[in-house]
Amino acid sequence: VFHSTPYAPPDAIFALTAGYQQDKFDKKVNLGVGAYRDNEGKPFVLPVVRKAKQILASDDSIDHEYLPIAGLPSFVSATSKLIFGADSRAIKEDRVVTIQTISGTGANHYGGAFLQRFYEPWLGKSKEEKKIYVSNPTWANHKAIFNSVGLTPVDYPYYDSSTIGLALSSFLDFLRTAPAQSVILLHACAHNPTGVDPTRDEWKEIAKIFKEKGHFAFFDCAYQGFASGDLDNDAWAVRHFVSESIPLLVCQSYAKNAGLYGERIGALNIVASHAGDVEGGAARIKSQLLILQRQEISNPPTFGARIVSLILNDEKLFAEWKEDIETMAHRIIAMRERLHALLVDKYKTPAPGPNGWDHVVKQIGMFTFTGLNPTQCKAMVEKGHIYMTANGRISMAGINDKNVEWVAECIDKAIRG
Ligand code: LMR
Repeated sequence: VFHSTPYAPPDAIFALTAGYQQDKFDKKVNLGVGAYRDNEGKPFVLPVVRKAKQILASDDSIDHEYLPIAGLPSFVSATSKLIFGADSRAIKEDRVVTIQTISGTGANHYGGAFLQRFYEPWLGKSKEEKKIYVSNPTWANHKAIFNSVGLTPVDYPYYDSSTIGLALSSFLDFLRTAPAQSVILLHACAHNPTGVDPTRDEWKEIAKIFKEKGHFAFFDCAYQGFASGDLDNDAWAVRHFVSESIPLLVCQSYAKNAGLYGERIGALNIVASHAGDVEGGAARIKSQLLILQRQEISNPPTFGARIVSLILNDEKLFAEWKEDIETMAHRIIAMRERLHALLVDKYKTPAPGPNGWDHVVKQIGMFTFTGLNPTQCKAMVEKGHIYMTANGRISMAGINDKNVEWVAECIDKAIRG
């Protein structure tokens, strides 16, 4: 009965991790998956997370009952404040609907599924007409997620390979010419995979067109804190869009900024035009998200939500978390500088773009989009045992004092052929 089942290719990112694990070469490096490693190349359990786990372990009042369908209430209320700001008008006016999700992936999935069912400009439209515009390039999973919920992902210009930077004018032209009320996915900060973010002035221009055209902003925020080391700073674009009353939703993930990759803890936040059970009201939106959640997972899991809730709701733990985030963000920035110096000063490696290797230090967040072409990327994997995606992305979080020389040497060799 399964004769017609075709073989599906393995996931490009996680296949790299599998290849890396099987590799016996002593200098192998995994720069594929976006997962933070410490300077020893080891997974990093944030000190604040260790503390939160101890608190949970010694709390005898904790049981194993189901959570409410929307998630752990103390997590749900705190997570929306983290992204929108505690003094957010939308929160004070009860217009923010938040549910706990299976990390950012689950949030993207529900965000897409909700729009597919209820986004008014799409009512009565076919899958082909329900276009969600995504940056070219974007996170490898975005298109698969949106396709799976009955949307049609379509690229918009974002990255300029000739400058290894933002294709601002094409991006703005696209926003101006796209049909009114288009749904457009934006990376809130630390764009994955390019590490290329708009500046605040550029975000303002982008927001202005969103407002004029009535576009819907589908924000994916998987790296809050990772771009600058500062949680509020990294939420700036989202908060600016909210202040401009642009219709939007925000997907959150605590995989990277709390190192809770396996706990799958995240949230979907939709900003409604009104509070309560009225047309477009938050209560109606929430009621539909609860249905989605019930159909898919019934009730979200407890562990990650309890950890993050402790951290977000306790002043002392929150301050410690900020320090941990700074530790991670600053180590990545230091590695950017080391790699840049090695390529420029030691190896004098010919650069793939017009601005030398400046993009290595200018790009933001966990990833560097090196500018290496697919043949050079293949050489990195096959000759250098440096696991990286074929689009030229490397996870800076996989680089450390011990392997940075080897990474630079291999980039040099790959570029020189
Ligand atoms: C990545 O882009 O490497 C991470 O977000 C992991 C993933 O799920 O793809």
